[in-house]
Amino acid sequence: MSSDQSTMDQRWIETDNEHLIHPFSALHGQKQKELACFASSQGIWLTSSSGERYIDAAGGLWCVNVGHGRQELAHAAAEQMARLPFLHSFANFTHLPQLELTDKLLSILPPGFDRVFYGNSGSDANDTNVKLIWRYNNVLGRPDKKKIIARQSGYHGSTVIAGSLTGITAAHRSFDIPRPGFLHTVAADWHRRPAHIDTEEQFVRYLAGELEKLICAEGPETIAAFFAEPISGSGGIIPPPRGYFPAIDAVLKRYDILMVADEVITGFGRTGSWFASQRYNVRPDFITLSKGITSGYLPLSASVISKQVSEVLYSEQTEGGSFGHGFTASGHPVCTAVALANINILEREQLPANAAKVGSYLIAQLRERLADRPFVSDIRGDGLLMTVEFDKDPESRTPFRDASRAGHFAIQACHDEKLIVRGARGRALAAMAPPLTLTESEADQIVDRLERAMPRIEEAMHGGSFD
Ligand SMILES: Cc1ncc(COP(=O)(O)O)c(C=O)c1O
Repeated sequence: MSSDQSTMDQRWIETDNEHLIHPFSALHGQKQKELACFASSQGIWLTSSSGERYIDAAGGLWCVNVGHGRQELAHAAAEQMARLPFLHSFANFTHLPQLELTDKLLSILPPGFDRVFYGNSGSDANDTNVKLIWRYNNVLGRPDKKKIIARQSGYHGSTVIAGSLTGITAAHRSFDIPRPGFLHTVAADWHRRPAHIDTEEQFVRYLAGELEKLICAEGPETIAAFFAEPISGSGGIIPPPRGYFPAIDAVLKRYDILMVADEVITGFGRTGSWFASQRYNVRPDFITLSKGITSGYLPLSASVISKQVSEVLYSEQTEGGSFGHGFTASGHPVCTAVALANINILEREQLPANAAKVGSYLIAQLRERLADRPFVSDIRGDGLLMTVEFDKDPESRTPFRDASRAGHFAIQACHDEKLIVRGARGRALAAMAPPLTLTESEADQIVDRLERAMPRIEEAMHGGSFD
């Protein structure tokens, strides 16, 4: 690409087609795909290399919480790069940005947390959490208590361990994961609940019962931890039924099982609270953070550990006191400086509160204008994390046989209206996580564009192409 990043000529298309592996793409179909090349962004807007403006209703990959183009973050990065561009954090090396960030995080997190470990991605933060959980049980002299339970439709990343936690089969295929010792219980998916369930109360009882059955079948002495996103994101924007987490917590406590809240998407104001754990009464021992911690401007993750767990970890008396885990960029000075500046913006502009207010407005508008359309079967979400779901028969919630393809079609129809939304494997969705700066008039524009895409979506759905 030329240095002004605004042209996409044939040479670069060939480089992309011949030499680049895109994450989560169809390798065999790469050459047939039209590339979507973007050159600049501001607020909720992305500008393509040919100068067309799109609304980024997906907030990148559910991460651009403060919106695009914040010069304050660019300056924070440049300043830190000029002063101290790199310092590792191994052994006793440290620097101010990671210390200030740690203090700030502990001040906004729910009470009871007192240690932070920094990494580079949501996936590696979940790997770190698994390693710490294994170590915790080793310190406690419970070498058999190592299995991890996550949930179907949960997404926790794509490294070998995080990919094993992930409960989406498309992310497992051909990779020999999940590895042994990683189990999945039923998703808290009200929209896809079993036919015999009528109330949220019944559903919660059923879900807690399924978890307990799995624990008992495997042997409680073998189960170390349970991983869950407060709202499943990449699996289809699945908020929990009322009372779900307290019921799950009771089961976990009964068998001395740790709880990890993966707040990679839901953290930093996305659902209207700083963290969704507060909102949904999750009582985690670990919290996984990434994405919104820098609004995606730089890679950074944090594994946050409760006082109770860290006391055990710190009680270990090993020869030389070795903690053999870490990354070159753990606590990277530029990433942590940008994270701090990012959280200052979220705080100063009260963006979590804006997410709650404009999120309620957007979801109400979506319901008012789209709920009665023929294939719309559900409109759900919380704060600025929401989705419209399409089913073949909304009445009975019967999905399309090829729901993934129906979903792709809906995303493409929105793209044609210059609206970027996301989908989920095996579902037909138009999912959204716009910047938390969203205004009501920008929310209206999202709904306008979605409404304009609807006739094409419906025509294809009527035509039976996805049955
Ligand atoms: C809830 C959750 N956890 C973990 C991850 C993995 O993060 P990363 O892609 O940074 O490895 C994601 C990514 O979408 C996520 O949504």
